[in-house]
Amino acid sequence: MCGIVGILGKENIVSQLMEGLKRLEYRGYDSAGIAILEKGEIKRCRSVGKIVELEKALKSQPLRGTSGIGHTRWATHGVPNEKNAHPHATDKVVLVHNGIIENFLELRQELEKQGHKFQSDTDTEVIVHLISHFLDEGNDPQKAASLALKRLHGAFAIAMLFAHEENLLICARRGSPLAVGFGDGEMFVGSDALALAPFTQTICYLEEGDLGVVRRGSLQVYDALGHLVERTSKKTALTGEIMEKGEYPHYMLKEIFEQPGVMGDILQAYFNPAKQEVSLALSNVDWKDVSLISIVACGTSFYAAMVAKNWIERIAKINVQVDIGSEFRYRKPPLPKGGVVLVISQSGETADTLGALRYAKEVGQKIISIVNVPESSIARESHAFLELHAGPEIGVASTKAFTAQLMVLACLTLLMARCRKTITTEEEFKLIQVLLEVPSQMGKVLAEAGKIQKMAEQIRDSHSVLYLGRGPQYAIALEGALKLKELSYIHAEGFASGELKHGPIALIDEKTPLVYLIPHDDLYEKNISNLEEVISRKGRVLLFADEDFIGRFKKKIESAFPMPSVQSFAVPLVYAIPMQLLAYYTAVSKRTDVDQPRNLAKSVTVE
Ligand code: M6R
Repeated sequence: MCGIVGILGKENIVSQLMEGLKRLEYRGYDSAGIAILEKGEIKRCRSVGKIVELEKALKSQPLRGTSGIGHTRWATHGVPNEKNAHPHATDKVVLVHNGIIENFLELRQELEKQGHKFQSDTDTEVIVHLISHFLDEGNDPQKAASLALKRLHGAFAIAMLFAHEENLLICARRGSPLAVGFGDGEMFVGSDALALAPFTQTICYLEEGDLGVVRRGSLQVYDALGHLVERTSKKTALTGEIMEKGEYPHYMLKEIFEQPGVMGDILQAYFNPAKQEVSLALSNVDWKDVSLISIVACGTSFYAAMVAKNWIERIAKINVQVDIGSEFRYRKPPLPKGGVVLVISQSGETADTLGALRYAKEVGQKIISIVNVPESSIARESHAFLELHAGPEIGVASTKAFTAQLMVLACLTLLMARCRKTITTEEEFKLIQVLLEVPSQMGKVLAEAGKIQKMAEQIRDSHSVLYLGRGPQYAIALEGALKLKELSYIHAEGFASGELKHGPIALIDEKTPLVYLIPHDDLYEKNISNLEEVISRKGRVLLFADEDFIGRFKKKIESAFPMPSVQSFAVPLVYAIPMQLLAYYTAVSKRTDVDQPRNLAKSVTVE
């Protein structure tokens, strides 16, 4: 969490720093700040809240300089107030940090005994005092920084400037991502390439344990052992424009409407029209020999894993266990020889998921990740990875990355099934046709978004909303509930419809809306019985089903959204769309912050 940016520029760089920070705001928005060297002296401006507050603060307290760093914070240690906002500084060094310093208390006590005075409650501030301590001992900035970093336990991406060192920025990476960008006589550092996209497309990603010494026109990288190493830079395709909202009021709505196009891009990448079969470059796995697949992920990506479990077990006949990253890594489950671990992550930086990946790798599993950011830590630490092709997802609530994960997992399921001969060529062909129809089916739902906007009015004042689905749609119900919670702050829970009678049915009353997903699949009949049980208890049903089905129940339910008829394999992909729209319009109606909901951050790089 947290976004960091640093620039050694040619002219006043304050507006560039602010531009970089705006692009990183999705990583945290509790407070923000920048520091500039003005005639060699460290000057800071910090404020609580979003970047717009920092902009206001800078109007009354303008800064000017050609060397600077900036930070947007997702609070861990210390409440979001000005004194806890980054950059943190002494008179010698100023620093921004993304991550957590686990041994900060012990270090703080040690430094306080030596007379260091702390201004904040953060873990980060120990780093500046530690560096100052080593500077006071007579070390140069690079040596002082590297001695200090050796004392830290935990995860970090750091950028720092030193008083009276206008042509020096030191950055380091352990556990959290960091990119260095090359401009024309200027250098840039940022948490990701998106932040640097308006300034440069030439990017070098630091590796785990690296320390970078940045000067205008040069980057020297030292690895974890202190050896000077070469790190290759590459061109990114990202541009400033990609980040715009265009005609949409929110990134989330834009990203929801991008989904048919994203599905098309994925099919173009993973479907071979000449052979009429899926084609994924995973030659290093023989699926015939795989006895267990473990899938690890967090949040929305975990719900994609749940759908995949259903598909893989049913179609490719391989046992699948799914787990959330934070549980898997500490439970340390025994994993079979020759097992495969699928790691799903939009950002590719989620600390819990990355920790699970590392455990699985240690115990000899083959790691295949499915990520949206090919340069991410998860992609780089996997034996193979499949790219989502969803494009940058800026809205904190995941939408297009979720359906992209489903589409890639659907293609992967077909590959496994073909290798294991659990489906015939004809069956694979039919299932591919079902996937090829997904973009247009999604388009049909999106064309009726206005109807869902009206349904949102029916739930906006509710205290709680229940989501029900069966089979793969249980995961879609959970995802729908998560979307509503994170965007509108309404309590929501997803249940497997068949499980309702085992307890949750007690929650049904005349006030609590139930969002019910009933596609025409093989669980249709079972779903009808469950729906009748709800109706007979006067449940307020908001039904998502095809038109015929709605016709049968019209008089007994509160409202319904007619879904296109979808073949069962594609149902989770298409039914995810109205769940996203319902959460979006509820949030809009409640005037909550759609793209940056409270307490959240897009990329969770702390445990
Ligand atoms: O980047 P990842 O897919 O690893 O992120 C996992 C979760 O943090 C993420 O899906 C989160 O639950 C979203 N806010 C959901 O909208």
